[in-house]
Amino acid sequence: MYDINNLLRKNIKNLTPYSSARDEYTGEASVFLDANENAFGSPLDTAYNRYPDPMQYKVKIRLSEIKGVPARNIFVGNGSDEAIDILFRSFCNPGVDNVIICPPTYGMYQVSANINDLEARKVLLTEEYQLNLEGIAEAIDERTKLIFICSPNNPTGNSLNRDDIETLLANFNGIIVIDEAYINFSRQKTFIQELTEYANLVVMQTLSKAWGLAGLRVGMAFASEEIIEVMNKVKPPYNVNEASQQLALEALNNVQQVNGWIKETLDERDKLVLTLKELPFVTDIYPSDANFILVKTTDAKGIYNFLVQHGIIIRDRSKVELCEGCLRITIGTPQENKILLSTLQQYK
Ligand SMILES: Cc1ncc(COP(=O)(O)O)c(C=O)c1O
Repeated sequence: MYDINNLLRKNIKNLTPYSSARDEYTGEASVFLDANENAFGSPLDTAYNRYPDPMQYKVKIRLSEIKGVPARNIFVGNGSDEAIDILFRSFCNPGVDNVIICPPTYGMYQVSANINDLEARKVLLTEEYQLNLEGIAEAIDERTKLIFICSPNNPTGNSLNRDDIETLLANFNGIIVIDEAYINFSRQKTFIQELTEYANLVVMQTLSKAWGLAGLRVGMAFASEEIIEVMNKVKPPYNVNEASQQLALEALNNVQQVNGWIKETLDERDKLVLTLKELPFVTDIYPSDANFILVKTTDAKGIYNFLVQHGIIIRDRSKVELCEGCLRITIGTPQENKILLSTLQQYK
């Protein structure tokens, strides 16, 4: 029987979480004089004078319907970046434990590890941008608490082999975190449905990408009830503000619009790839399962600076291991992609 108590930091296991004003009674009430709020209202059209629901109950119910997971298996955070940090703070003893990351990958795993004074052991992806299972097995020791896997991976864009991830899930005693920020664009299935199979699995998703809500900062983690309980204990009490909760709830009713944008993004991605391939300074375009592409060029820095001069910002990834000469380009609207291409066609 898998027991996450064996992984938890001792101080977290023993932690009495903050009890917010509205956690401490049951039943109906209409006069709230418990939280030192301004009882008169807010100097705005919408009233935000009350603290938000600390457990984001309504948002979780809607997410639960969309994702097919019980609400008790969902954590909602101030972006999925918050979930990353909370996992570190819950499971990893600063200066003692380590985590494994597989670069080139999303930079926040390393930064969050640094902030929490944790060693992030790097096991590079293979030349094909897949997991190096042998390398990971060698890097694991008794102090390895978490392994971060990003699929589809940022910045390479590809999905990681499902069998490899399952091998890790079946053999690692710590927690495997699968970051599915770009899953809505992917041909691969989410790992959310595997939560009942693996007690050591955390799947992260976000409303920042396909859902078009990066400005609201709403991210999710899906995991066993035990892991979610720990994350809720460690998070700041009101981690997702009221405006974000209300707007996320409203947006989550517009699945069709989002699906339309996903389809359009994928069509645009295919078109962009075809045209980019024709450019003399493009040497490779890696297969993408996301809303961006990684493009290998003969002169990444020069192209990046040229585009900046024309008011177009992409991401220069040429200094990243295994990404020499590479630029990461987000798929824009048809109009934006056209501007990008016509500008690139002027590059000498
Ligand atoms: C792989 C990956 N995970 C997480 C995030 C951050 O997501 P959020 O906006 O929910 O914090 C990003 C943002 O670029 C990302 O690329």
